[in-house]
Amino acid sequence: MGLTHTAFMEEDVKKGFDPRLARRFFAYVLRYKGLLWSATILLFFFRISAIAAPWITKVAVDRYMNHPELPLDERLAGIHWLVLAFLGVMFVKIVTNYAETLTTQMLGQRVMHDMRMSVFRHLQTLSLSFFSRNPVGRLMTRVTSDVSALNEMLTSGVVALAGDLVTLLAAIGIMLHYDWRLTLVSFAVVPPMMLGTRIFRRVSRQIYRITRAKIARLAAYLSENLAGMKVVQLFRRERENSRRFGEYGRDLYNTHLRATLYSAIFFPFVDVMRATAVALIFWYGGYRTHQGHVTLGTLIAFISLVELSFQPLRELAEKYNILQSAMAAAEKIFGILDEKPEVLDAAQTEALPDVKGDVSFESVSFAYDAGNDVLHDISFRAKPGEMVALVGPTGSGKTSIVNLLCRFWDVRQGSVLVDGHDVRKVAQRDLRKRIAIVLQDVFLFTGTVAENIAMGDRTMPRERIEAAARAVHADGFIRSLPGGYDARVSERGSTFSAGQRQLIAFARAMAADPRIIILDEATSNIDTETEILIQDAMRTLLAGRTSVVIAHRLSTIHRADRIVVLHHGKIVEQGKHADLVAAKGMYARLHELQFEEAEAAPAAK
Ligand SMILES: Nc1ncnc2c1ncn2[C@@H]1O[C@H](COP(=O)(O)OP(=O)(O)O)[C@@H](O)[C@H]1O
Ligand SMILES: [Mg+2]
Repeated sequence: MGLTHTAFMEEDVKKGFDPRLARRFFAYVLRYKGLLWSATILLFFFRISAIAAPWITKVAVDRYMNHPELPLDERLAGIHWLVLAFLGVMFVKIVTNYAETLTTQMLGQRVMHDMRMSVFRHLQTLSLSFFSRNPVGRLMTRVTSDVSALNEMLTSGVVALAGDLVTLLAAIGIMLHYDWRLTLVSFAVVPPMMLGTRIFRRVSRQIYRITRAKIARLAAYLSENLAGMKVVQLFRRERENSRRFGEYGRDLYNTHLRATLYSAIFFPFVDVMRATAVALIFWYGGYRTHQGHVTLGTLIAFISLVELSFQPLRELAEKYNILQSAMAAAEKIFGILDEKPEVLDAAQTEALPDVKGDVSFESVSFAYDAGNDVLHDISFRAKPGEMVALVGPTGSGKTSIVNLLCRFWDVRQGSVLVDGHDVRKVAQRDLRKRIAIVLQDVFLFTGTVAENIAMGDRTMPRERIEAAARAVHADGFIRSLPGGYDARVSERGSTFSAGQRQLIAFARAMAADPRIIILDEATSNIDTETEILIQDAMRTLLAGRTSVVIAHRLSTIHRADRIVVLHHGKIVEQGKHADLVAAKGMYARLHELQFEEAEAAPAAK
């Protein structure tokens, strides 16, 4: 729960405007200068055409309607023209509005796509140490909702703000042009408005923070329950968990209601301010009209213009929230983009041509966290085609050795050599091309079985895929699937049994045809019947290749050329099975234990 919870909780961190982050974000936007300019120009015309309507009204009233002394046909002709102009302006307004929305969205979606791709590509370059520090849930948020927050800032924040500014400036400009005194009076309500907005912003930020935390708690509880549904049902926790969920839900809803009590005041408050402004115009404008300083048309135009200017003021508080979330999101996204991979290719990489598969560890010490060595002075060698087995209790460092061989991490001391090349001196891609790894928990990707075996190599011919599957006895069960090799793999292959997934993984390794194979407890979750198949598959797979095999079941590794026994990250013994048994050390004890277990098992039934 802890991790998921913090992953959601961190949404609460709010941030003011940060020009450095804004500039970096804007660099993405500037890639689409054409769209940006189109959107800006369209926006300008849209807002100006909206402002034009009150102005046309003013002209209609002042020139024609309010002049009974003019001949009727002259008045009618003038009004006809103004009606046409009005329709024209409205048409421009509608068309530019539509086009502006389209271009802004297009711009936003492209920028979002680019950012998602940058983050995704960058994540792929990062070393595994990064992923062991950062929970998946948090990284997911970076690629999805944080990117969306930036998009929202672009489409409804920045652009709308620019539009609001155009509206406000144009309205104020027109008003000042006709009567500056009346303009000042109309905007007399702005100071109390600002004050109200400030207070509202502070309150709403607090409420927002509290509701976010409650939503996070509810979401974390939900995700925990969904993930652990099996356990929930097994332990019949349904009712209790429903009660808890209900409790969190009710709490959230109460918070929302309380929030509404405050936030609902704001909009009526703005309306009161607007009404006050209109009333002021009637009062003072009426007086000035009477005195002949202001025409009736101007008075009418003022009322419409004030109404138009209030819309942006009303939305300012909301825009501020959008900006804050976007800044927080930008900080987190660029934080990821600034992460440097800890495992880096050397500036001058050595070529790794036909690898024979000579693996050696020379006095390797290693720590995941500095100062906390999990491997001490490890040395062993596997000559081309040999099989080395790593044996030892859980946590003794077997997987860590494998991680170093694949260079997922770098050694602290000593060196790992493949065909005499230090793995730090060759390109990671070249190294990993030579190595296949089969883990206890096989990871299948969404796609077909064949694609999972070919592992993204789209050019791999079907015959090679099938031959690989046949070689490791996976062919039989794959053919019995509906669709055979084209059967769909859903959600990480959850519809396959552990043994079936294992066979697919073996086929995957076989198809890759590497010089070096690593099996990390690849045979652990397997029933006896499948085991016979797997044992045989393993022999085929390992034949002629260098292999590093980690297995709890010692029967799997009897025939290893070398068995390396680890304890607390140190090698305590190494040698062949028979020699180690004869030496009566740790391996002999482990072997004896398993042997007794195997003897005892049938008796216990
Ligand atoms: N990503 C990691 N970060 C920090 N410590 C780790 C990490 N992975 C493993 N360890 C620690 O390294 C030690 C060796 O682990 P590991 O190599 O996985 O053992 P084994 O595979 O033999 O069970 C353990 O003490 C484990 O807690
Ligand atoms: Mg392990």
